[in-house]
Amino acid sequence: MAYTVPKLADYSAAALTSAAAECVRECAREANRVRTVAELKAFRDRWLARKGGVLTQINDLWLKNAPKEAKREAGMGVNQLKARIQEIVASAIAPPVEPALARCETVDRVDVSLPGIRRPIGAEHPVMRASREMCAVFQRLGFSIAEGPVVETDYYNFEALNFPPNHPARDTQDTLFIAGQQSKPQRERLLLRTHTSPVQIRTMEKMRPPIRIVIPGTVHRNDPPDASHSPMFHQIEGLAVDRNITFGNLKGTLDHTMKEFFGSSVKTSFRPSFFPFTEPSAEMYVSCFICGGSGNRESGPCRPCKQTGWIEILGCGMVDPNVFEFVKDNGYDPKKISGFAFGMGADRIALLKYGVDDIQLFFQGDVRFLRQWA
Ligand code: PHE
Repeated sequence: MAYTVPKLADYSAAALTSAAAECVRECAREANRVRTVAELKAFRDRWLARKGGVLTQINDLWLKNAPKEAKREAGMGVNQLKARIQEIVASAIAPPVEPALARCETVDRVDVSLPGIRRPIGAEHPVMRASREMCAVFQRLGFSIAEGPVVETDYYNFEALNFPPNHPARDTQDTLFIAGQQSKPQRERLLLRTHTSPVQIRTMEKMRPPIRIVIPGTVHRNDPPDASHSPMFHQIEGLAVDRNITFGNLKGTLDHTMKEFFGSSVKTSFRPSFFPFTEPSAEMYVSCFICGGSGNRESGPCRPCKQTGWIEILGCGMVDPNVFEFVKDNGYDPKKISGFAFGMGADRIALLKYGVDDIQLFFQGDVRFLRQWA
């Protein structure tokens, strides 16, 4: 019988411990039964899926129903339990792809007439390919590539991007912090950058306006892995600063690049949004190039656009004058210049462009999957 999350009638420490222990035991048992890649995916989804996964159910059944006095204890217990389950799921492994290889007999004599060993030629990873192709579209418009460190300071990741200390917008980024930084002043503390936007500031410190750059790179957020989330993913950032840069320039540039990347028939749509470092801010959607914007396919409802006909691709906006204040001395006087910026998920555009339905496939290193881009 598969494990189902029990309701808790009793919130004593002993009852919680035993319910948690049972849950861990069952998870480990299921992990041991995983035999194929498909089973591994099903197992991971069953325990970690945001919607209806066992951990989500535990949150709903145990935490939300806990009596007031027991909330703290129960919260701590559930957190420990989550960490343990995540460990078990992460360490579950599918069997080697070609077990037959293991049966190969060893050769004890050298036959010099045999051909040499032909090393298979590698293929570019689909995420790198999508990222490179997107950057290339911008390069043809005169943008150059800039890069920056993955381990960042609080200053570049947040403060200089107009996220004041303790501002709630910081919480939306699920930051992974480097341990042991408490003795440093906040702005010097290290973290894994949650977006590529800090490279905007780093580049403006080094180069005077005008600038046009695209910034590909790895970012991290403390998101549980599922079909569309990974704690490590990739972004492509853009920044253009000059005299008289307008929202019209932003729209024209992005509309052109989306047509180049996804195909000339896609349309773009800009909807109001918020980022601390842009004002005004927008989210840009492209018309769904899978169903042609109708929301439906011959085979039924269109999943990639959730039947809306539109797919969200990126966040963007006009650089907030407060951001320029941090680099004012290098020629960025907000009274004289303006700029636009945008940031998109490289993995996401790769998923969409290549019709892949699970981001995890990009990072599991299964050669049979990756070979498709060779
Ligand atoms: N950094 C934002 C994010 O990761 C995206 C963004 C970049 C928005 C640049 C506006 C301008 O969500």
